[in-house]
Amino acid sequence: MENNQYKQIKRVTTHVLLEMKQRGEKISMLTAYDFTFARILDASLIDVILVGDSASNVMAGHTTTLPITLDQMIYHTASVTRAVERALVVADIPFGSYQGNSKEALNSSIRLMKEAAAHAVKMEGGIEIIDSVKRVLSAGVPVMGHLGLTPQSIYKFGTFEVRAREEAEANKLIEDAKLLEEAGCFAIVLEKIPAKLAERVASELKIPVIGIGAGGNVDGQVLVLHDVLGLTKEFNPRFLRRYMNLYDDVKINVERYIEDVKLGDFPNEKEQY
Ligand code: KIV
Repeated sequence: MENNQYKQIKRVTTHVLLEMKQRGEKISMLTAYDFTFARILDASLIDVILVGDSASNVMAGHTTTLPITLDQMIYHTASVTRAVERALVVADIPFGSYQGNSKEALNSSIRLMKEAAAHAVKMEGGIEIIDSVKRVLSAGVPVMGHLGLTPQSIYKFGTFEVRAREEAEANKLIEDAKLLEEAGCFAIVLEKIPAKLAERVASELKIPVIGIGAGGNVDGQVLVLHDVLGLTKEFNPRFLRRYMNLYDDVKINVERYIEDVKLGDFPNEKEQY
């Protein structure tokens, strides 16, 4: 705990998010995969921390989210929940741990809740995964949906381009969003779709709609923390706002440290016993 305000804040729950939508207060969400960053985000009063399967790219260097395992997601999620006192922590169920098998979806979400203390799980897809969504919800596990560009299906899409530009895909997305809401999801992420479509979904749904590359007329925004901080360099989509250029800052200061070591300047008299 760092300040009085942080101490006094009650926990963000799925119900709090619903109330935020109802009173028009935007929801802030960022990813975290480790204790240190999660603690900073929580102390900054972020509303939701997503332990995204983007850890597969950002933490492990894979080109897609597909390789990350449930055990690895449990490790990342547990690291985050150990740090968090206020934010709602949502964990992605990884590829291959819920699609086409609602029993497996249930087991995966129970492991994320029991072993990693997640507060909720996220799954990608609409009608195709609705049995899994319902079964997980029936066990009392809050579920966040994810539609639009769903990175676990990247080999089906074949591209990271904007989704649902065509009418048929846009209509399916609207139907899927309503289906997820009816099933009992507490929120939905919409990724990389036209802003007008996202606005329509947000206005027709009662539950919060969180956008990433989906324009400003939704109920909240999510980005990948490492992109926001400029720790990643290669990923430059139009929707990304970088607030820092930490890659260069870290590099410059690591180079200074190396120079100090090489020159025998570190440690000095005061930095030893
Ligand atoms: O894994 C992730 O980081 C995500 C966000 C991009 C929404 O799913």
